[in-house]
Amino acid sequence: MKNIVLIGFMGAGKTTVGIRLADRLELSFIDVDQKIEESYQTSISDIFEKKGEPYFRQLEKEAIEKVAATPGKIISCGGGAVMDPDNVRTLKKEGVLVYLRAPIGVLFERTRASSERPLLEVPDAERKAKELFGKRKETYESVSDITIDTEEVAIDQVVDAILDKLGE
Ligand code: S3P
Repeated sequence: MKNIVLIGFMGAGKTTVGIRLADRLELSFIDVDQKIEESYQTSISDIFEKKGEPYFRQLEKEAIEKVAATPGKIISCGGGAVMDPDNVRTLKKEGVLVYLRAPIGVLFERTRASSERPLLEVPDAERKAKELFGKRKETYESVSDITIDTEEVAIDQVVDAILDKLGE
């Protein structure tokens, strides 16, 4: 079975849905950001702070190359991962890209409580989130194989919708 790759903006629920989906399908789950944190024994925020975003994007690309090389897993990607066409190509070789979609207002509310999103650690985080989402939205839509709307939908229903669309 191909990898199921969850994509979408911060707050889309990629990790939560990914864990539940992996459980249901009895497949392993890999979160690319967690993989980077484990490999480098540090947090994503720390990498952004000390080395900057381009460096993080390089680590992200390398992690994706490793993770995407073999099929049969559920993969959750950071919200910026598919902005790099190389990553999209790599992920699509052995995977189906599933876009977890929600309006930016909902996504922003879901990220509000967390301090683990370095790109939103700015004075006007809401504005920044809207700006970023505006730039990314079309890419999420165009690279994905399947789109699932997650606004006001419980996790299990999101999982059901994914399985339904994948014909599982
Ligand atoms: C990012 C999203 C984060 C993480 C990093 C950058 C982005 O992952 O990869 O902070 O560019 O949108 P989540 O989407 O899991 O929060």
